[in-house]
Amino acid sequence: MSTPRHFLDLDRLPATTLRAILESAKAMKRAGRNGSTTLAGRTLALIFEKPSTRTRVSFEVAMRQLGGGSVVLDAQGSHLGVRETIADTARVLGCYVDAIMLRTDKPQKLDDMAAAGAVPVINGLTDATHPCQLMADVMTYEERKGTLKGATVAWCGDGNNVAASWIHAAERFGFTLRLAVPEALRPDPARIRWATERGAKVSLHTDPKEAVSGADCVATDTWVSMGNNDAERRMRLLTPYRVDAALMRLAKPDALFLHCLPAHRGEEVTDEVLDGPQSAVWDEAENRLHTEKAILAWCINGTRPDA
Ligand code: CP
Ligand code: NVA
Repeated sequence: MSTPRHFLDLDRLPATTLRAILESAKAMKRAGRNGSTTLAGRTLALIFEKPSTRTRVSFEVAMRQLGGGSVVLDAQGSHLGVRETIADTARVLGCYVDAIMLRTDKPQKLDDMAAAGAVPVINGLTDATHPCQLMADVMTYEERKGTLKGATVAWCGDGNNVAASWIHAAERFGFTLRLAVPEALRPDPARIRWATERGAKVSLHTDPKEAVSGADCVATDTWVSMGNNDAERRMRLLTPYRVDAALMRLAKPDALFLHCLPAHRGEEVTDEVLDGPQSAVWDEAENRLHTEKAILAWCINGTRPDA
């Protein structure tokens, strides 16, 4: 039996595979929504141990547009990891579906599901990373401004799961990443080491102005991620990192603003920036659909785009 093609994290797939998936996403976007039989007769199970709007709807619509279908399980409505081991659930689901997307807290749960070897497993966000989001972010940047290779992205805010996938992306796609994050909320140093040891330009900053100065893109995310229970402390630490019009003015005049959404208006970003001409957040949300179609086609169908 061959090993399923999992989409677990950007650092676990070759850059050539990620590039091929992105090019396939762009082609799928051009092809439009109807008539595809790419995943006809195939089914995706979506398991949510945390809430979601974009990830749930974009994956469900992606399967539908590719001719397949989906089944959604939530934490309350399934036995996952409580009354049944994750590996056993994976084996059972593998009898019914062709791939599993899991949104959960501990990354180990994704690994346990993948190790069961039943069907491809896709990371729909964990406490540690959010790789599907970054595929949409890279696509959005490239649509608006051409290649990300050699560009500079400034991340301002929490060193969270989305920031971690930005670090992976900086190495895989060859751009400079400046992380403006308070010391107490910095990303795992091992993740930054992983990127810099491979030649990636990833730097840490405490001053957001320094990070944003001359950048091609400014990105941020909520200050209080799902599962964080220290909101007050985070608000205090992160207030100086808010992306407002004055901070955006320090970036290049045509710099893009990205945010994975949901946004907390007036906290990590002001209305003026989120709704302003440099914001690409709605395209970014739409591109979740196109990149997920490409990820699903790669995971479920036999062809390796980089083979
Ligand atoms: N960006 C993102 O993953 O959004 P949801 O939490 O709504 O899925
Ligand atoms: N960092 C956020 C991302 C939501 C898409 C969270 O984990 O809640």
